[in-house]
Amino acid sequence: MRPANPIERLEVEVWRGARSGAFQRYEVPRRENQTVLDVVTWIQRNLAPDLAYRFACRVGMCGSCAMTVNGRPRWTCRTHVAKVAKSGRIRIAPLGNLPIIRDLVADMKPFFEKWGKTGVFEGRRVRAQPVEAISPLSDERRAIDQAVECINCGVCYAACDSVRWNADYLGPAALNRAWTLQNDSRDTAHDFRLAALAGAGGCQLCHAQAGCSAHCPVGLDPSGSIAGLKRSVFRAALRGRL
Ligand code: FES
Repeated sequence: MRPANPIERLEVEVWRGARSGAFQRYEVPRRENQTVLDVVTWIQRNLAPDLAYRFACRVGMCGSCAMTVNGRPRWTCRTHVAKVAKSGRIRIAPLGNLPIIRDLVADMKPFFEKWGKTGVFEGRRVRAQPVEAISPLSDERRAIDQAVECINCGVCYAACDSVRWNADYLGPAALNRAWTLQNDSRDTAHDFRLAALAGAGGCQLCHAQAGCSAHCPVGLDPSGSIAGLKRSVFRAALRGRL
């Protein structure tokens, strides 16, 4: 009888160590509907119990399982082997544009520190007051319908050439988040955020190559959010608000 998969074993190279590490080869049985995260988990359970990697939900919600797969940043729990390893070979490394902690675990600290640089939500109401409602039909809310669905996986950040060229650049995820806050009528920190967005590392460093949007696993358009921020900064400069 024909095997379910023409390829019965995968040749997998996995990054081991920190920045000065190396790829190590493993052989992994090919399974039906196997994901890249399944492959990493099989290696950890059967061949390399000390292999460090990160995941949580396994269903594409938490954003923690992103890695570099055959040179491209991807969420590994929703990436099927059949899609990325037709030849039966997979090379898996930690996410790019970030320091490596160990093996497949990238250090997300610089990624989240940049979110902080564009400011957090600053509301007018105090905890005892009811939550201020926003109409889902308002223009501002519709402008960010897609952007609020970000799962913070870091794939766009790893795919961004501007981050690679300039480590100070805030990057697509932080700017996408800033776009959602700038369209939130309840937020009182718009001017503070605009100054950060217009400054060094801000949205003008985006070269509009749209690698972020091309790689986003949930189909968001951070490049479009950044274009919106550029327009906001331009208008603020014309009105003397910067
Ligand atoms: Fe949660 Fe992949 S493990 S998105």
